[in-house]
Amino acid sequence: MHMSITPSILYLGTPVVLVSTVNEDGSYNLAPMSSAFWLGWRCLLGFEGVSKTPQNLIRTGECVLNLPSADQVDAVNRLAFLTGSNPVPAGKTLRGYQFEREKFEVSGLTPVASETVAAARALECPIHLEAKVARVNPVMADEYDYSVHERSGECTLEGIVCIEVRITRVHTHPSILMDGKRNHIDPDRWRPLIMSFQRFYGLGPELSESRLAKIPEAMYRTPDVDRAAIVSPAKIK
Ligand SMILES: Cc1cc2nc3c(=O)[nH]c(=O)nc-3n(C[C@H](O)[C@H](O)[C@H](O)COP(=O)(O)O)c2cc1C
Repeated sequence: MHMSITPSILYLGTPVVLVSTVNEDGSYNLAPMSSAFWLGWRCLLGFEGVSKTPQNLIRTGECVLNLPSADQVDAVNRLAFLTGSNPVPAGKTLRGYQFEREKFEVSGLTPVASETVAAARALECPIHLEAKVARVNPVMADEYDYSVHERSGECTLEGIVCIEVRITRVHTHPSILMDGKRNHIDPDRWRPLIMSFQRFYGLGPELSESRLAKIPEAMYRTPDVDRAAIVSPAKIK
């Protein structure tokens, strides 16, 4: 028999993403998050509005989504309890967060230049997705009053935002590609780091033959893929 329960969180298990953005002073912010999902070459990213990352995203219009594998769990753990916001927002102080300007240094990850955005990539993560902001969507608008911020044009948001980004460049480590297939990530080799109810897990082996996997990946291709490929890095701002 199932039971009706009231858990405080519904973090049911999603891959961790390290979002890198540029702060006002030119330093790089790097923040772990896991409320993310992909549709074509778009990603929807859910953030607390008071965090530094959505504010940087709204101000600069760009980021890198670095996908850590289970091997980078220690780096992700080192970034927990850190924020690029100074002063630390009250809600984060209550949860024990501290301000940190040098997040790459603290994490032990190496910043490397991107091709289409100013934000840095985290070298050790096997997948880097460079991305531009397409749309900022308020979440829980029935609960929070976003109109004050809309009127003032401020970046500081209360509540939750779901930011749609368009991927402009995909970088992968060759070790996670299918043999002889340049544009196919091998799910047997890609081992994402999963966050479930605030704890970290890896993936187990494949369970059974997937009927869905009979659909060729190319059938999901959207115009964003060609849009990213034909624009040379120099022309993208
Ligand atoms: C594994 C992990 C997953 C997280 N997922 C999210 C998330 O999906 N959305 C969010 O707003 N914060 C999430 N957080 C908390 C953020 O990392 C935290 O708000 C942090 O302050 C963001 O950094 P920033 O303030 O420099 O942007 C997560 C933290 C960890 C360690």
